[in-house]
Amino acid sequence: MSIEIKTAEEIEKMRVAGRLAGEVLDFIAPHVKPGISTGELDRLCHDYMANVQKTIPAPLNYAPPGYKPYPKSICTSVNHQVCHGIPGDRILKQGDIVNVDITVIKDGFHGDTSRMFYAGEPSIQAKRLCDITFECMWIGIKSIRAGSHLGDIGAAIQKHAEGHGCSVVREFCGHGIGRRFHEEPQVLHYGRAGTGSRLQSGMIFTVEPMINAGAAAIRELADGWTIVTKDHSLSAQWEHTVLVTDSGFEILTTSAGTAPEPAISRTLAGIR
Ligand code: MF3
Ligand code: CO
Ligand code: CO
Repeated sequence: MSIEIKTAEEIEKMRVAGRLAGEVLDFIAPHVKPGISTGELDRLCHDYMANVQKTIPAPLNYAPPGYKPYPKSICTSVNHQVCHGIPGDRILKQGDIVNVDITVIKDGFHGDTSRMFYAGEPSIQAKRLCDITFECMWIGIKSIRAGSHLGDIGAAIQKHAEGHGCSVVREFCGHGIGRRFHEEPQVLHYGRAGTGSRLQSGMIFTVEPMINAGAAAIRELADGWTIVTKDHSLSAQWEHTVLVTDSGFEILTTSAGTAPEPAISRTLAGIR
């Protein structure tokens, strides 16, 4: 098995799918407020994807080996939930932090992106975790260029997270993406620079660090999907789908509401 190099035509379709995934997040942003249920967020996104965008929500009935089919169209992971939170009756309350993870299929190609949202005003600690995690995603992305190593991404993310007293979730990683939701390579969010596959122009994968305020350990809930921190500390995640280019990278999941690059990765020594 090897990492696909996408053709110019495939890359163009991935740009469309990526932008559409970002636009679902733009659409749902104003609805993430105290009093709404995660199930209502799912219903709103599902209808927008199916009826407005004419995209397919990739999570719905997704069943990788060893999993039962995922029952909803988006993932909503609240507070100490790390990822794959299943939308339902839970009502968001003032101060909750929520990851909304969207994957659409358009014209046979997947776009996958997630952001953190606040219901009302977050605590200072919660906002700090979300900011550090956003910086981790960007610092990882900034290491990407043809000729660099997969391990460079994880090493940069781990250094930033642990340098701020946070921890990196080990069990879930970024992934190649294209006609399939999850393909090679696995993009670890920890590791050593200079290790792993060399990146080539035309590779497309996600960078989606899950960062915990406490310990890295996680466990899976009895629903077979929802992942939570073992110590119940807060967890955050941000995700973009990224194309490797000769000069560096192109983020494919950019939309009007995409947050700009943070100051820290713009000013890091030695990179663009
Ligand atoms: N979107 C997630 C990812 O970034 C995967 C969700 S799988 C689901 O890889 F079935 F839970 F939707
Ligand atoms: Co992903
Ligand atoms: Co995702």
